[in-house]
Amino acid sequence: MNQLQHIAIIGASAAGVAAAGAMRRGGFDGTITLHDGGRHLPYERPPLSKSAVSRGLKEIQSATSYAELEIELLLGQRAVALTTDREVIFDSAPTIRPDRVLLATGVSARRLPVSGAELHNVLYLRDAGDAEALSAELHRGGPLVLVGGGFIGLEIAAVARTLGIDVTVVETQERPLFNVVGPEVGGLITALHHDRGVRIITGREVTAMRGSKAVEEVVLSDGRVLPAATVVVGVGVVPNDQLVRTHGVKLSGGVVVDAHGQTDDPWIWAAGDVAVRRHRHLRRVGRIEHWDTAQRHGATVGSSMVGDLQEDTAVPYVWSDQYELSYQAFGRGEPTDQVVLRDGAQPDEFLAFSLSEGRVHAVAGINRPRDVRAGRSLVESGATVSAEALRDPATNLRRLPVLGGATK
Ligand code: NAI
Repeated sequence: MNQLQHIAIIGASAAGVAAAGAMRRGGFDGTITLHDGGRHLPYERPPLSKSAVSRGLKEIQSATSYAELEIELLLGQRAVALTTDREVIFDSAPTIRPDRVLLATGVSARRLPVSGAELHNVLYLRDAGDAEALSAELHRGGPLVLVGGGFIGLEIAAVARTLGIDVTVVETQERPLFNVVGPEVGGLITALHHDRGVRIITGREVTAMRGSKAVEEVVLSDGRVLPAATVVVGVGVVPNDQLVRTHGVKLSGGVVVDAHGQTDDPWIWAAGDVAVRRHRHLRRVGRIEHWDTAQRHGATVGSSMVGDLQEDTAVPYVWSDQYELSYQAFGRGEPTDQVVLRDGAQPDEFLAFSLSEGRVHAVAGINRPRDVRAGRSLVESGATVSAEALRDPATNLRRLPVLGGATK
């Protein structure tokens, strides 16, 4: 790898920052430039929909740590094109010609294409500015309408209810988090929020928003009209793959990469939420939209880019703080899985497994951290286990009888 002199990372995201550190720690002594269109020192996004709504930003690492690692952090530099001559062009900085480029550009909030969505007080939550705007709105009071019962919607619902705000969640699926956790766990999460006074309307769409300057009303597909002082839209994300859309790099709902993060153009690599990849513990090729995974993927891709080929094989992990409760999950279920709930499940304490042919592909729980961690080992091993044993609260998950051989 001696011929590499300059690696440019586009996006000071979790993946981008982790990649830069891994390159340097892996012994790469060339130039590492880390470019980002924003002006903030790179910060953690998970708190944005949780405590940051009220408590401000948390930096990924200190300003001095970039200097210590000789990583050139270049804020306010938005890349606008990658050319076939291997140049990176910026909106307000000189063009560069790195030897390799890493896309760690993440995702953007999917916009809601309904009339009135441009009204003042219709917000999205993706970056620090969004969190600031939301915080200001919440401190003015409600009613608050959340469009989308995913992680954004539910975490903000919890924050807003804690502030005493009137909250309604509108979700097109039959249950919140349906695509992530399926109907059984979605039902428990619905109950959890109902118990805290959140109104959850499922199976309906928002067809319009109305108001003079600011939003005042949200119109649903069944004709219902909800009063609203603020609307937050959290209906999923789209990959920030604009830089390579006309470049010829393979795209499929994101930037397609191999096990080490390389695209089909050896100059361009991708890591984090924007990358589409096969993962050892998931059954579908795709993007993984989790903070923890973005960091791990960034680190392995960073190492690979400087010649130490690595692969991120850690079981994807997601956590979500809602009220005083902590939701955690490893792996990913599929709609066809059998969902096994441990007997005695309650909205504020449960454990659930997604099984297919007796193998555990995902485990999720609220306030069961030890069991969720034990469930991760089941996902890792790929062993066949009994659904009955999983259901029984007396079963020690770490000593679960294995019925069939491990497949992984
Ligand atoms: P999401 O994908 O988690 O959930 C979007 C929800 O909106 C889904 O339930 C979907 O059925 C629903 N939906 C889609 N179109 C709709 C429509 N027109 N009207 C009403 N509902 C609609 O995405 P979300 O919540 O926007 O989060 C964005 C990203 O940020 C995701 O990748 C998520 O994983 C991530 N995130 C993760 C957190 C965590 O891990 N704790 C916290 C916050 C965000």
